Formats: sequence, structure tokens, C-alpha cells
Amino acid sequence: MLMNILDYDDLQEVNLGKPENSSGAYHVPVLPDEVVALLRPAPGMLFLDGTVGGGGHSERLLQAGAEVIAMDQDAEALDAARDRLGKFGERVRFVQANFRDSEEALLGLDERRGLAGALLDVGVSSHQLDCAARGFALMKDGPLDMRMNGMIGETAADLVNGLSVPELGRIFREYGEEPRAMQIAARIGALRLQHPFQSTFDLAAAVSSVAPRTGARHPATRIFQALRIAVNDELGALGEALEALPSLIVAGGRLAIITFHSLEDRMVKHSFRDRSQEWIDRPEWPEPRRNPNRIFRLLTPHPMDAGVEETQSNPRARSAKLRVVEKISDPTLL
Ligand SMILES: C[S@@+](CC[C@H](N)C(=O)[O-])C[C@H]1O[C@@H](n2cnc3c(N)ncnc32)[C@H](O)[C@@H]1O
Repeated sequence: MLMNILDYDDLQEVNLGKPENSSGAYHVPVLPDEVVALLRPAPGMLFLDGTVGGGGHSERLLQAGAEVIAMDQDAEALDAARDRLGKFGERVRFVQANFRDSEEALLGLDERRGLAGALLDVGVSSHQLDCAARGFALMKDGPLDMRMNGMIGETAADLVNGLSVPELGRIFREYGEEPRAMQIAARIGALRLQHPFQSTFDLAAAVSSVAPRTGARHPATRIFQALRIAVNDELGALGEALEALPSLIVAGGRLAIITFHSLEDRMVKHSFRDRSQEWIDRPEWPEPRRNPNRIFRLLTPHPMDAGVEETQSNPRARSAKLRVVEKISDPTLL
């Protein structure tokens, strides 16, 4: 269970103190070879990249001759992706949207063809973490924002200053799995009466005053992760996408999802399992029954993760997990 917390911390440390990530790129895509091998892009195929970020994965799909709808909720990401992918001309179209709204976004582009595949590489990009002004990084002073789409929704400061203490505690416990969730929330509740929280350093200092550093990890790591998840409703968006994307994919098409912490990976794993297992059994049934919700074939019974070589050159890949399913043509035939 600790894994997801360490993952976010790894991610923060990987980006610590550097003006850009170590490659100087906007973001280095994780598991790119595995994504290409499993999505099998080719000319004439249409893919949705729901988290285009710096465009690394999309570039690989485009290099193979496919068409790509490059989506991100972050306008800065789309600018970076446009710079990188503009050379592919009309084979790539860009759209600023939340992947939970993929269906509407495709209709907005007047795209009615089914997708040969979709990719979600969820979470934050290196650029978002590198940029102090975005407020994601606890080791860089910046406004307490954390919105991936900076135009809408409440900021982390809004939540920290506005939510009740029990609600803050719930967020810290559920999304950060923070053992001192209630203590930290109570401390924040007392401090914000004197001064509303405005910066990442304010918050990191407040957390440290309740939970002093004991190991290598900053004590505010779990709190930052929890707030980021809450600000962007990351689990809600992923849940809605898991419901919506299957119907946008053609039979034989594939859905690939990369996650970086266990809360998200668990959602993907359960959703893929529930829609791919052929038989279901319940103690009260005399015998197993065919699964009426089966629409997928599971291509990754175990999640794929990055090998030693990739994690050495891109430490962020350490916590990545890739799961892929293929839509089956007619569940009753299989
Ligand atoms: C890990 S990065 C993706 C990197 C990308 N695959 C690449 O090769 O550069 C995650 C990106 O997803 C975006 N994102 C996260 N959640 C999103 C959502 N619900 N809808 C749309 N974009 C989202 C973030 O803004 C960020 O740019």
C-alpha cells in the first residue's frame, strides 16, 4: 500500500531542483516500446491519446503512420505537443479536453469513426512538476494551485483554506493514505485562521510541524499527492473514462492505460478484469455463469513495467504500470 506514496515521492525527487527533467525534454514517455507493440499502430488507424503531454507516445503512433487525436486538459501540454507533432500535418489533431469527456470531444471534432485504440498515461508530466508556478512540487515554492487545467476548478489553496477539517482529513487519508491525516488537517485548520495558505512552502512547512521528517521522504509527500488527486478529481475522471472509452473503440481495437500509483492501478485492474473474465462465480450460485459484461480480452494478465535499462535512463518509469485490453467482436462467440 505504501507503494503509491513512494511513487509520487520518487516522481518529485526525480524532478527536484532541476530546471527541466534530466533529458531537458518536456516529458520523457514511459514504456514507449511496449505501448507501440501493444497498440500496433499502422497507416489508416485512428488513435486517441487522451494524455498527450509532451507528445512522446503520440509521436511514436504517428511515426508508424497512424492518425492521432491528441488530447490534454493542460493548455501548456498541448502547446508543447503541437511544437513536437506539427510536422505530421493533418494526421494529428489537437483538442483541449478532459479524457472523461472523450466522447463529446470526438463529436466536437466531427470524428465519428471508431478508434483503433486509445491510450491514457495518467498523472502529472515532468513539465508540470518542474514548473514552480503550477504548484505541484513540494520542494519548489509556488502558488498552491495544482490544477492541470488552470482555467477551471478550485485550486489546492481553495481546498486547503475552504474545506472543513474533517473533509481535509478524509482527503489526506483516502488519497494520500496519510497516517496522521486528522492531526495534519487540524493543524491546517488552526493555522489558516491566522493566515490563509497561499504557497507550496507554506503548506509543506505546516505539515512538517506536525509530522517531522524521519526518513529520506519529505513528510508532506502524501499530502501533496492527496491534494493533487482531489483538485483534479483524478479518480473520478479515470472512472468515467473507463466507462466511456470502450464504446468508442472498434472491435479488435485496444485500450492501454499507464498508471503511477496503486489507487489508479487498482481501478484499471478491476475494470479490465470485470469486463474480460469469461465466467463469474458467486457463492450463492450452483455453478459459474457467463459474464454478461465481457467486452474485452485481457492482453496483460500482469501489468507491464519498465525494465532496468529504462528506469536507469528515466527514473520516473520505476512506478509505471501498463495494462492493455482488446475489444472483442462478439462476446457471445468467445
Ligand atoms: C504523464 S503525462 C503524459 C505524457 C505523454 N504520454 C508524453 O508522452 O509526453 C500526463 C498528462 O496527462 C494530462 N492529464 C492528466 N489527467 C488528465 C485528464 N483527466 N484529461 C486530460 N488530460 C489529463 C496531464 O495534463 C499531463 O499532461
